[in-house]
Amino acid sequence: MEADLNIKAEADERGDRPTTTVILAMSADGKIADRSRAAARFGSALDKAHLEQQVAKADGVLLGAGTLRAYGTTLRVVQPEWLVQRQQRDKALQPVQIVCSRSAVINPQLSFFQQPVPRWLLTTTIGSRQWQEGEAFERIFVVETATGEIAWQAAFEQLWASGLKHLAVLGGGALVASLLEANLVDELWLTVCPLLLGGVDAPTPVDGAGIMAALAPRLQLLEVRSISDEVFLHYKVKKG
Ligand SMILES: NC(=O)c1ccc[n+]([C@@H]2O[C@H](COP(=O)([O-])OP(=O)(O)OC[C@H]3O[C@@H](n4cnc5c(N)ncnc54)[C@H](OP(=O)(O)O)[C@@H]3O)[C@@H](O)[C@H]2O)c1
Repeated sequence: MEADLNIKAEADERGDRPTTTVILAMSADGKIADRSRAAARFGSALDKAHLEQQVAKADGVLLGAGTLRAYGTTLRVVQPEWLVQRQQRDKALQPVQIVCSRSAVINPQLSFFQQPVPRWLLTTTIGSRQWQEGEAFERIFVVETATGEIAWQAAFEQLWASGLKHLAVLGGGALVASLLEANLVDELWLTVCPLLLGGVDAPTPVDGAGIMAALAPRLQLLEVRSISDEVFLHYKVKKG
């Protein structure tokens, strides 16, 4: 509850973009999936409950197209406790699921499109073309730079103007790298799971081109929980 209040206070203070919390599970050697880049299902039931709790706190969920392609679905809030809390806070029962993709080449047969959740798409002009017809996405945001990349600051301002005050970012590593580069990550929850995956090509929490150590965002440890063989790390990204 206290963390919730902090998020709200910071959002009110800033007042122009949603706050963000990245939530990822990784192996003890820092991989968020194995080298096949398949869906990562190595977290415990407790880790899944933790993820659902973070999703339940959010107005919107951001997920990269790669993550959607790997899983085919998204995580809905289903626990009665979290659904009641959302109602008490005057939130919609489900946070809006926002898919981020330049190409928007996504299989419309994915189970995601049958899930009872609101769906928005954040994409480019080119990506938007194939989704203009039909009702797969309730809203399509085209917010791009002159070079056809998503303009993240402007996109976040639009999400804020659409009523989203807090976003849960479910990955993957490419999306998180883009958000970090745009200075749009406020907090991270990383679950260290008891296995080793290895592999130079296995995805990590932050992929992209990489960050030189001198410029690396610095973190403040807010909380550590160790349950059974998993460790739940809660970090805040230091600003400036
Ligand atoms: N362990 C965990 O908690 C966890 C969580 C999530 C995902 N994963 C794993 O991570 C892997 C997927 O990772 P990923 O890095 O490939 O996926 P990702 O970040 O989910 O998706 C990459 C795709 O998202 C879109 N995207 C990312 N950044 C963008 C930007 N700046 N602008 C526009 N579009 C952008 C692009 O889509 P287009 O190509 O369509 O343009 C890009 O190809 C899977 O193996 C999955 O299992 C693990």
